[in-house]
Amino acid sequence: MAFEEGKFQEVLSEFSATSEMLREVAANFRQDLQMGLRDPASSSMRMLKSYVGLPSGKEKGEFLALDFGGTNVRVLRIRLEGEGRYEVLKRVGEPLIIPGKYDYIGKGSTAVQMFDFLAKLIDEAIDGDHDTKFYLGHTFSFPSDQDDLNNARLIIWTKEFATEGVEGKVVNDLLTAALERRGIKNVVPVAVINDTVAVLLSAAYKNPDIYIGSIYATGHNTCYLESSIHDPKGFGVGGMILNLECGGFMKLTPNRFDVELDKNSEKPGEQRLEKMVSGRYMGELLSMAIAELLDEKDKKYDLTSVDMSMIITDDTPELKKATEILAEKVGRKLELKDVKRIKELTTAIAVRSARLVASSYVGIIWQRAGEGKIQPQHVAVDGSVYEKMPLVKENIARALSELLGEDAAGVDTVLDNGGSGLGAAIAAAMAVQ
Ligand code: BGC
Repeated sequence: MAFEEGKFQEVLSEFSATSEMLREVAANFRQDLQMGLRDPASSSMRMLKSYVGLPSGKEKGEFLALDFGGTNVRVLRIRLEGEGRYEVLKRVGEPLIIPGKYDYIGKGSTAVQMFDFLAKLIDEAIDGDHDTKFYLGHTFSFPSDQDDLNNARLIIWTKEFATEGVEGKVVNDLLTAALERRGIKNVVPVAVINDTVAVLLSAAYKNPDIYIGSIYATGHNTCYLESSIHDPKGFGVGGMILNLECGGFMKLTPNRFDVELDKNSEKPGEQRLEKMVSGRYMGELLSMAIAELLDEKDKKYDLTSVDMSMIITDDTPELKKATEILAEKVGRKLELKDVKRIKELTTAIAVRSARLVASSYVGIIWQRAGEGKIQPQHVAVDGSVYEKMPLVKENIARALSELLGEDAAGVDTVLDNGGSGLGAAIAAAMAVQ
């Protein structure tokens, strides 16, 4: 069955993001930031204090970094050598879920199971050494309330995590208890930061002109250095980094697929921007749109953002790979004409995502500049969607120049690959030095 052309065009248009729409998103984002600075409750973003500013670049010593926030957990032993230099001495990592084997993030899993698993990985990273003292920095990539650098209370799970007994708890208490259960007394957690903060610390440790850090992966979020906030309990220079939790930004115009996806998600009403742009959800949006075109409305095809990348990069005349992926996921071979249209739709979803993310960066850049001139700067980004999804980087750049005009010449995005682990080690160093 070939799709009906009118219907296809209508579905495709749902995912368009014109310059005007972007301008509105960037302006609303800035306004939401300004409102949140006056009173966090009035913004759709949580704007959480991190109690760190930028590193001086002189941080040195050996630290443990626990990087927790996506499906993989990593523990690293890192030696910071100052001036942007560092060495990873040991790296261990395992997924939090292996279907059929174990699952620490799904419904029915518990905090004790999850944190015992983390303690086991930490034990591996220190080679079972229960004597030498190690300071640990913890990247915890979920919205958490902090009143200092070391205590973070999980407000709410995102990214469809559902482990019981963690929401509302101080994560380092759960970790310390798990370390004790394992007989580890020499690992001392000293800092908990969001992954966006980790990326910003890591990038700023190595390079100048970086004030914004972002994750564009399974989840999406951004932080920035707010120079007007100083706190006696904070560390670092230049003010305080605010973890915006902008995945929760809401002043957007969701299309009917976005609305439906949100309704059926683990946390309806939450994380509206994240559900329009991040890797965890884009494949689902594509799936829903295809189901509508195929008149199979409630069918789920389980398409992922990795499938999307492969569909977009298939440039063969017969779209062999794309046809194969779709045949496997949809359950039947589609005509070439329809595969071509699905490729167009996939591209539109990825491009919309990149353009919305870029608009949020512009909202922050405008806010930081105030009435003054926009500073030349790099926005540090880490994450699989930014790194691997075709068309994303160039569409961010294009949207930046649509919105910033000639100032865009001084602004770009840079990949800070694996910044989460390094950032956690830097935060630990900042906390103890
Ligand atoms: C979380 C953020 C995190 C982002 C990227 C979101 O779902 O709420 O805290 O920074 O994912 O990992």
